[in-house]
Amino acid sequence: MEPQIVDLSGRRALVTGAASGIGLAVASCLARSGAEVLMADLPGERLAAAAALPGASALPADLSVRDHIHRIASEASEVDILVNNAGVQHVSPIESFDEAQWDLILAVMLTAPFLLTKLLIGGMYGRGWGRIINISSVHGLVASSHKSAYVAAKHGLVGLTKTVALEASAHGDANISVNAICPSYVRTPLVEKQIADQAALHGIAQSEVVEKVLLDRNAVKRLIEPAEVANMVAFLCRDDMWSMTGRALTMDAGWLSH
Ligand SMILES: NC(=O)c1ccc[n+]([C@@H]2O[C@H](COP(=O)([O-])OP(=O)(O)OC[C@H]3O[C@@H](n4cnc5c(N)ncnc54)[C@H](O)[C@@H]3O)[C@@H](O)[C@H]2O)c1
Repeated sequence: MEPQIVDLSGRRALVTGAASGIGLAVASCLARSGAEVLMADLPGERLAAAAALPGASALPADLSVRDHIHRIASEASEVDILVNNAGVQHVSPIESFDEAQWDLILAVMLTAPFLLTKLLIGGMYGRGWGRIINISSVHGLVASSHKSAYVAAKHGLVGLTKTVALEASAHGDANISVNAICPSYVRTPLVEKQIADQAALHGIAQSEVVEKVLLDRNAVKRLIEPAEVANMVAFLCRDDMWSMTGRALTMDAGWLSH
């Protein structure tokens, strides 16, 4: 799929969780649109291979560790487009929900976006242009059972988005927007793992999980492609999209229309 027509030459983007799924599609789309792209993800061969994209480089880091976040923010510096995308999932009833998983999910999916925003938005104010795009989820707006940490983190990320958008609006002469994108299920490795986990939890076949559990609430019974989310990110990076700010933008195949 071709990226939206947007010229990002001279812009620098930092994409977290960029070695896989949505993050990889976003990094690829922004690089093809002319941006220099810094791809942050857990260290390893997967990140090294992903960062072989023309115009891209790897920033290995564990985003559950604050020191790593401070390090990549200082290595990246002067970031014009911040895409907070890294995420993990853990599916369990709350009474047996693993506490370490709760801490990990909140650290990667809420604390890391907060810290990267805190550390990088000043540069955007100074240069007069910036985009902060938080990959939340339909689970940033509604809940599903057995995903307490994920739903809490994604709702928190929508709250963070609105708050930072209001603060950025004080810099009214600058072209800065802050948004969350809220997709329903996207065809990525994270979802493939959930299909297996849900099948085990409900004791049903994986094909049944896709049809009856995952896409149960979707009006359109179709998984979203990572490149489709990436095109929304590119769209938000257009200069003339400055007014779309502080929003939780749904790509939910009609989920929330019920
Ligand atoms: N796939 C979906 O259906 C869907 C729907 C809505 C929202 N989302 C959100 O989109 C984002 C990307 O999800 P995806 O489906 O592409 O998943 P994915 O598993 O394909 O990619 C997630 C990436 O985040 C990285 N990551 C995880 N923990 C990390 C850590 N501690 N430090 C650094 N990197 C880390 C992983 O290594 C991986 O490369 C997530 O925030 C997810 O919640 C996904």
